[in-house]
Amino acid sequence: MATLQAIKYSRGKLLVLDQLRLPHENHYDEVSTAEEAFDCIRSMRVRGAPAIAIVAALAHAVELHNGDCTATEPEEVIAHIEKRLDYLKESRPTAVDLSNAITLLKLATRAANLEGLAHPEAKEAILNTYIKTAEEILAKDLHNNTSIGSHGAAWLQQQYNASSERPISVLTHCNTGSLATSGHGTALGIIRTLYSEGLLKHAYCTETRPYNQGSRLTSFELVFEGIPSTLITDSMAGALFNLHRERMNIGAVIVGADRVVRNGDTANKIGTYQLAVLARHHGVKFVVAAPTTSIDLETDTGSAIEIEERKREELTQISGAIVNENGTVDTSKTAKVAIADQRIGVWNPAFDVTPHELIDAIVTERGTVVKGADGKFDFSQVLPERLASIAARQL
Ligand code: MRU
Repeated sequence: MATLQAIKYSRGKLLVLDQLRLPHENHYDEVSTAEEAFDCIRSMRVRGAPAIAIVAALAHAVELHNGDCTATEPEEVIAHIEKRLDYLKESRPTAVDLSNAITLLKLATRAANLEGLAHPEAKEAILNTYIKTAEEILAKDLHNNTSIGSHGAAWLQQQYNASSERPISVLTHCNTGSLATSGHGTALGIIRTLYSEGLLKHAYCTETRPYNQGSRLTSFELVFEGIPSTLITDSMAGALFNLHRERMNIGAVIVGADRVVRNGDTANKIGTYQLAVLARHHGVKFVVAAPTTSIDLETDTGSAIEIEERKREELTQISGAIVNENGTVDTSKTAKVAIADQRIGVWNPAFDVTPHELIDAIVTERGTVVKGADGKFDFSQVLPERLASIAARQL
């Protein structure tokens, strides 16, 4: 079956699906420089924590492949790479995948084996190391997502003794699918896996105001995959859970993450926190799907996470394809319309932080982390090497 692909890459060429045109138009932009990647990320043509990191890493791989680096000495080549990466890091602040990818790329590039090499071979070795590491980030992401899908589906199956005779329904927020990653998705990946294993009764997705990643992107992915699904506005979640108490069998809210910190507090799309509060009130499990690339063990609690604030027009205006008089959608014409008094004051945080107390499980590609008897998440089973390196630095 055809799959949605946000990122198409072959060495020297990066194509990125313009998500601002979805669901009406499939248009790919060629991204060949760090500046183009920065603009693509900032303007939300590509979004989602893993996809942002992959596009940034690969855009620089493309410009290096195309000979953008004129430095010759190894130290200068490394300095050039690091400067470009530091620039890309500023494109969006909350998701940690980008800074984790940059740390990895810098370490790998510095560790390139230059033994016995002089210019130009030494430079080639550094560039090749960078390009291969960036390509590995892309390949690993897909692998991570399928593992998250299996771990998450297995955990939920166990919680509810779910089976094809007793499938569960779930609610998701924002877009965490193929469009937000290299493929399959994280939270949506778990939903995909539940569906393919016959364990899913129904998926609900929120509209995800103000940017509508749920109605524009997740509903598009769910329809594309033929998964039984229903769109609700963000304000309908409480009513849905309440109904479920009587008859609807909603097993879990499954969301993605932009940054999970050491105690399990999780930054994700604005509206996630209120879903967690509602889920707890109604006895619905709250599951965060997060590849280890979205985990930040250097930050202790969620209060230290920088939350991106975006422009006022995302609340006061909306754009989309024109609906004709007869109800058909004309995808060739788009319009921007005002949906509020343009003078109103606006607060537009792109993310919020869900405290770890409200989270039941954090599903990574290395396994599902749950809270211990002390009420804390312990990442030592899934990220022992990162914890060891933090501990070594503190000595
Ligand atoms: O502003 P966005 O669309 O980049 O926000 C995306 C989210 O919040 C996702 O839930 C998160 O990045 C995880 S994507 C696998």
